[in-house]
Amino acid sequence: MIREAIIYFFTPTTPLAKKYGFLYQSVSLEHRYERCKKQWLPHLKNCQDLFLAAVKKVPQKKSVVILGSAHLHEIPMHLLLDNFESITLVDLIHPLKHHWTAKRNPRVKLVTQDLSQSLDKLDSLQNLEDLHTLIKNLGTQKLFDFKADLLVSSNLLSQLALLPMEAVEKKIKRQLTIEEKDVICTAFAELHLKNFSACQGQKLIYADREVIYRDPKGDVIYTGRYPVSFTGFKKLKDWLWLLAPLKEASKNYSIEMKVEAYEQL
Ligand SMILES: C[S@@+](CC[C@H](N)C(=O)[O-])C[C@H]1O[C@@H](n2cnc3c(N)ncnc32)[C@H](O)[C@@H]1O
Repeated sequence: MIREAIIYFFTPTTPLAKKYGFLYQSVSLEHRYERCKKQWLPHLKNCQDLFLAAVKKVPQKKSVVILGSAHLHEIPMHLLLDNFESITLVDLIHPLKHHWTAKRNPRVKLVTQDLSQSLDKLDSLQNLEDLHTLIKNLGTQKLFDFKADLLVSSNLLSQLALLPMEAVEKKIKRQLTIEEKDVICTAFAELHLKNFSACQGQKLIYADREVIYRDPKGDVIYTGRYPVSFTGFKKLKDWLWLLAPLKEASKNYSIEMKVEAYEQL
């Protein structure tokens, strides 16, 4: 309890991160990792293997940028420090431990940024049409721009549309249909890929692309997937990640993610 209170009190947050509950989500993610790390191991190993394979291919190892760095469960800090001179972590919120590391180690830099550039505009959305107009406008802008020997988009893709969809649902007082959600998720994912592609440097991206719910017998009760065009990227691998074993999120189902990894051609 004391540890949590310290984390809540001392973790630096922006008004935007506070407003949209990113500190709470960050703390919850760490707790879920603590509870589920045994089940997450194959996923974490895949991420680390892909990262190390990408490191082997970069001509020089001066700089790395991790988008959606969170707690660096997937690519631990020691691997970044062992392989690159300069490390830039980009997220809406950084855990306290990374702030401490960055204070002590000038090789580590934290960038606190909304990579979707949408969150400060959500209050003005009145309906679904407004969200489509926002997406159209975002398509004409540079949402982020980083340069490094290696850039990793680290399990961020599926997160970007969540708050915009939630904001519209609150305003229109109904849930969006699966079809409406798919269009928005596809658009945010492709905006991210477009901006990621335009960054300078070698790129690795991995992202959860499909969600699978299983009942206690292990039978599939729901799968969800929306289309995303990875044009300009080559698929490296896919695997299943048991995000929430039975009884973690519910006693009625477990949640698995199909994760896909790509490198830029
Ligand atoms: C699933 S976590 C990534 C896990 C992370 N790669 C790791 O190894 O621990 C997704 C991260 O994306 C961040 N995120 C979500 N939306 C974002 C946005 N619009 N801009 C920047 N970061 C965002 C969240 O704060 C969260 O830390």
